[in-house]
This record gives sequence, structure tokens and C-alpha cells, in this order.
Amino acid sequence: TKEILIAPSILAADFARLGEEVAAIDAAGADWIHCDVMDGHFVPNISFGADVIKAIRPRTKNIFDVHLMIAPADPYLEAFAKAGADVITVHAEAGAHLDRSLQAIRMLGKKAGVSLCPATPESAIEHVLDRLDLVLVMTVNPGFGGQSFLGSQLEKIARIKSMIGARPIRLEVDGGVTRDNAAAVAAAGADTLVAGSAVFRGNSAAEYAANIAAIRTAAEA
Ligand code: DX5
Ligand code: ZN
Repeated sequence: TKEILIAPSILAADFARLGEEVAAIDAAGADWIHCDVMDGHFVPNISFGADVIKAIRPRTKNIFDVHLMIAPADPYLEAFAKAGADVITVHAEAGAHLDRSLQAIRMLGKKAGVSLCPATPESAIEHVLDRLDLVLVMTVNPGFGGQSFLGSQLEKIARIKSMIGARPIRLEVDGGVTRDNAAAVAAAGADTLVAGSAVFRGNSAAEYAANIAAIRTAAEA
């Protein structure tokens, strides 16, 4: 079984102090830094682009887990790779050529991930398993933090876990994850848990460590 990783999403951070916030969650025990890129086209919200990732890159040695909620994604892969992304995840729904996008990410020397919206069946990844380092299952409809967890995704997570089998592919779950549902998320098969509002709530760095630890403890139980 793979070690459980906690990936706080900086979408929930104070954007006026983003560099400090990244350093704070790094110190608070974040395993990965989840960076939610939104274009106002694929999702109904705009967050930040490659230049912001480049700006915060020097603030941590941590892995930048970049979640591209953009369409098209291909024209921007190189910019995010150069900005310092370590894992680049594209949405299966963002275009017609997922296999090509995943190959392009690996050609850039980065780990390749695919994300599935709640309505998208796991069959969407059936023919690209060998191109993947990560599968990101959305447990909210992408675009915003602070939404409620969609329990309907738990059986999809379990089915994807069995599709992955012994392959070196991480199973990440994203959206509405809290200390209260982390055990169910991990039991379903997730090994990497994104959390935005559940980590950043309280808005004080002292609480970040406790919030991350609570989610980790629940997931490892
Ligand atoms: C939603 C993003 C998620 C979100 C997580 O489109 O992909 O990463 O920021 O935030 P919470 O944990 O608050 O749902
Ligand atoms: Zn995300």
C-alpha cells in the first residue's frame, strides 16, 4: 500500500500573502502543494496562471501538484513545466486528445496526471493507464473550494483503485475532503488527499499543522 500524502490546495490560501502561505503549509507538514489553475472557460472561475507558480516556486522545495482546470491545456503545458510544476494534471474532459496531452507532459520531464469530473466514468482512463503517474478523482464539481463532498464518487474511487492494480499510479481525491470523510476516502482506495478549506480554515498558520495532522490521522486509521 502506498503512503498517504496530504496535498493542501492553495486556492483556499490568502492570495495577498501567497508566498508566506506556501511556506507556512510547507512547515505545517504538507506533502505536496496542490495548485488549482482555473481559466474561467473550462470552469466558471479564474484563479492564477504559470507566472504565479513561478513566483512561489522559490518558497518551497515541496512538490507542486498542478491541477489544470483549463481548456485547451496543451498550449500551456510547457509554461507550467518551466514555472516549476512537478506533477501536471489535465482534465479528461478538456479536449479530444488525452493520450497526446499525457505524452507531452512526460516529454517535458514531469509526472502526468488525469482528472475526472464527477459525471465522467472511470472508463475514460481505460486506454491511457500506461501514460499515467496519477489519477485525480474530483469529489466536487470543479471551480471552487469550500464545496460539499460528493459521496457518489466513493465507488468510482474503488473501481479506479482496482483498475490501477499494481501500477505505480497515485490515486488522488480532490474536493470537500475533511477530517470527517478522510477515512472513507482512504478506505475507498485514495492515497493522496487534497484539502483546501479543511486545511486553511481558521486562517492561522498555527492551525494548519493541526488541520493537516487531523486529516492524515483519519486517513491512516
Ligand atoms: C476545485 C479544486 C479543489 C478545491 C479543494 O475545483 O480542484 O482542489 O480547491 O478545496 P476544498 O478542499 O475546500 O474543496
Ligand atoms: Zn484541485
